Amino acid sequence: MPEEIIRAEGLSRYFGKAVLAVDNVSFGVFQGEIFGFLGPNGAGKTTTINMLTTVLKPTTGSARICGFNVLKQAREVRSCISVVPQEYTADEDLTGYENIMLCASLYSIPKNVAKQRADELLHLLALESASGRRVETYSGGMRRRLELASGLINRPHVLFLDEPTLGLDMQTRAAVWGYIRLLKEQYGMTLFMTTHYLEEADSLCDRVGIIDRGKLIKLGSPAELRAALGGDVMEIEIEDKGTDISEMLSELPKVQVVGKDGNKYRLKLTDGEEVAVEVIGSIHNHGHKVLRMSLTKPTLGDAYLELTGREMRDEQEGADQSWKRRLTMRRARG
Ligand SMILES: Nc1ncnc2c1ncn2[C@@H]1O[C@H](COP(=O)(O)OP(=O)(O)OP(=O)(O)O)[C@@H](O)[C@H]1O
Ligand SMILES: [Mg+2]
Repeated sequence: MPEEIIRAEGLSRYFGKAVLAVDNVSFGVFQGEIFGFLGPNGAGKTTTINMLTTVLKPTTGSARICGFNVLKQAREVRSCISVVPQEYTADEDLTGYENIMLCASLYSIPKNVAKQRADELLHLLALESASGRRVETYSGGMRRRLELASGLINRPHVLFLDEPTLGLDMQTRAAVWGYIRLLKEQYGMTLFMTTHYLEEADSLCDRVGIIDRGKLIKLGSPAELRAALGGDVMEIEIEDKGTDISEMLSELPKVQVVGKDGNKYRLKLTDGEEVAVEVIGSIHNHGHKVLRMSLTKPTLGDAYLELTGREMRDEQEGADQSWKRRLTMRRARG
């Protein structure tokens, strides 16, 4: 078993008496994995990050990061983590380089060490040419990269990223994904990220926890979550000879007939690609000709919908959050 670098046990957090933002959440994150927290607005993602990073005290429950208790060893926890928050934090009036150096001073990193790391990070995140410019003049993508660079200055074992690509265009998001993968692959870093973009979780995360209304409702790899839907969907149309092949198809292993319309059949397959070849072979062996076929894989979005019964939604977004989101989006566009 790989080592668990984050372990949350029964984490709950109330705001006042009425709002239960996080409800008895337990999970583990392994050393070196990209773990995603996926959920709609107001699901409790940021609140969970805030508890794991010692910003907020849990109402009940606890967590250990790198073996340290977030309640009793907050200082030790903070020394092995870093957080890139949902909102931009850089000082607009300072340059990119100055912002990184400011972060370094907050971690009490000696100046000569900080300088060397800042140069490395500016290179890693392709910000060298902009490092002397005031952040005011940065594009949304450059700001995200600068936030990442600042988050990496203390060489964290675990990096928390809250909505790392919110408001970015597709190309810039893909670039940020590239940097996140690099941190995992080249530096063996453990990444805990939140997102409400399903395709982001699907393409980036080793495992995903789906959180909704404060509860962790499912945890697994994107493939496992998709497989929980009961597999891929195959549609086939055979030459019309007036025979019903449903029974023959149902007897094949890993095949379930879920619909028939004339000479068209809709099947659910486990291990789609392999089984599809066998299905077609069997149809031929029974003397039928396949006219058309298609195989579609369910997306993480399909899994999300089946699990929560709802689409991603904004209905719980409070005035405060929507204001923060608008500000973040405006800066991202800037
Ligand atoms: N400081 C606070 N005071 C009162 N309620 C809060 C506070 N912070 C969060 N909440 C509430 O707790 C719930 C969870 O909020 P949280 O910010 O953790 O959600 P989230 O999943 O990060 O959402 P988003 O995707 O919009 O960032 C929401 O109902 C929110 O309104
Ligand atoms: Mg949030």
